[in-house]
Amino acid sequence: MKRNRVLLLCGGQSEEHEVSLSSARSVLAAVGDQFAVSPLVIDKSGSLLSFEASCRALNSGGVRSDDVMSGALQNIATEDFDVVFPLLHGPFGEDGSIQGLLKLMSLPFVGSDVLASAVGMDKLMMKAVFSSQQMPQVPYCGVTRQAWQNQPEQVLKMLTDLSFPLFVKPANLGSSVGISKAIDRSGLSKALDEAAKYDRRIIVEQGVENARELEVGVLGNDNPQASPVGEICFNNDFYDYDTKYTEGQAELKIPAELPPEIAAQCRDLALRAFAAIDAAGLARVDFFYSETKNRLFLNEINTVPGFTTTSMYPKLWEAAGISYGELIEKLLELAKEKR
Ligand SMILES: Nc1ncnc2c1ncn2[C@@H]1O[C@H](COP(=O)(O)OP(=O)(O)O)[C@@H](O)[C@H]1O
Ligand SMILES: [Mg+2]
Repeated sequence: MKRNRVLLLCGGQSEEHEVSLSSARSVLAAVGDQFAVSPLVIDKSGSLLSFEASCRALNSGGVRSDDVMSGALQNIATEDFDVVFPLLHGPFGEDGSIQGLLKLMSLPFVGSDVLASAVGMDKLMMKAVFSSQQMPQVPYCGVTRQAWQNQPEQVLKMLTDLSFPLFVKPANLGSSVGISKAIDRSGLSKALDEAAKYDRRIIVEQGVENARELEVGVLGNDNPQASPVGEICFNNDFYDYDTKYTEGQAELKIPAELPPEIAAQCRDLALRAFAAIDAAGLARVDFFYSETKNRLFLNEINTVPGFTTTSMYPKLWEAAGISYGELIEKLLELAKEKR
C-alpha cells in the first residue's frame, strides 16, 4: 500500500508557537503506519528549520542558530507530499496567509481555505458575517487605532452605547493576547491603549456577566457534523492567556451540563457559523451562555483549534466516539476530498 506523505507545519510566529509544537508532537505520536509524516517547524521569526532540526526541536526543544533552512516554504519539493497539515495558530498560520501559499503550490491542505481562514481570524469581519445571518452575538463596535489616537473623546462617546463591563480586543490575534476587561471609563481607555499596541483595528464588546463558556467541534466539508457541547471551567475573571496555558487552571467538561434546548441550539449555531464563513475540514465554535438570561451568544470560530490530545477539539470528538488517531485520518481525507 502506498503511504500518504504528510507535511506537518508547526511552530510559527504567533504567541501560540509552543501550543502548536505540542499539538504537532501529539499528532506525530498518534498517526498510523499508513502515513509518513514529515514535521517542519517554523521558528518564532518566521524562518523554516531544516527537516532534521525540526525533528530535534520537537524531540528536545533545542534549536541551534544554524538550524534554519536556507530558502522558504515555496522551495520545498511539492511532489514529495500528498497533503499538508498546517497546524499553525494565529497570524500567518490561521489567517489565510499560509493557506494562500499552499494553494499556489497546488498542495491539498487540512482545514479552511483562504477566505474562511481570513474571515475567521478577523474578529470584526467574522462578526459582520455572523450578524448578516442574524446569529446571536453581543453588541459590539469597531474602533481604529487611528481614531483612538486622534479623536479619543469621540471614540469614548461612540462607545457609550455599550454598557460595562466591556471587553476590548485586537481584531486579529488569539490566545487572549491584548484583550482586557474594562469596568469603567478609565479602564476602557487603558484597554484601548493596550489593544492598539497589537492591531490597527480594535473591537469593543459588551461583556456577558457570569458567562459560561461553551465550545463545539465541527468536522467535515460540505456536510459537516457537530460534536457534543463542551464547557471550559476556570476560576479567573476571564479566560485570559495564563488561564489558557497554565497547567491545571482550566478544566474541560464534556458534555456540558445544559438544558437540552441550549445544547441543541449551540450545535445548530456551530454548523451555521461554519457554513457562514465557508470553513472546511475542522473548526471549533465558541459561545457564551448566560444562565440567568438563558441566552446563548456566539463568540468566535477558530479554524485551527488547539490540537493536543488534551485539547478541547479532539476531546469533543473523542466523546462522539472518534479517537484522536481516527480524527487525524479523517482530516487528511477531507483535505484531499476538498479539491
Ligand atoms: N463579550 C464577552 N463577554 C464575556 N467574556 C468575554 C467576552 N469577550 C471575551 N471574553 C473573555 O475573554 C476570552 C478571550 O476572548 P476571545 O474573544 O475568545 O479571544 P481569543 O480569540 O483570544 O480567544 C473569552 O474566552 C472570555 O473568557
Ligand atoms: Mg477565544
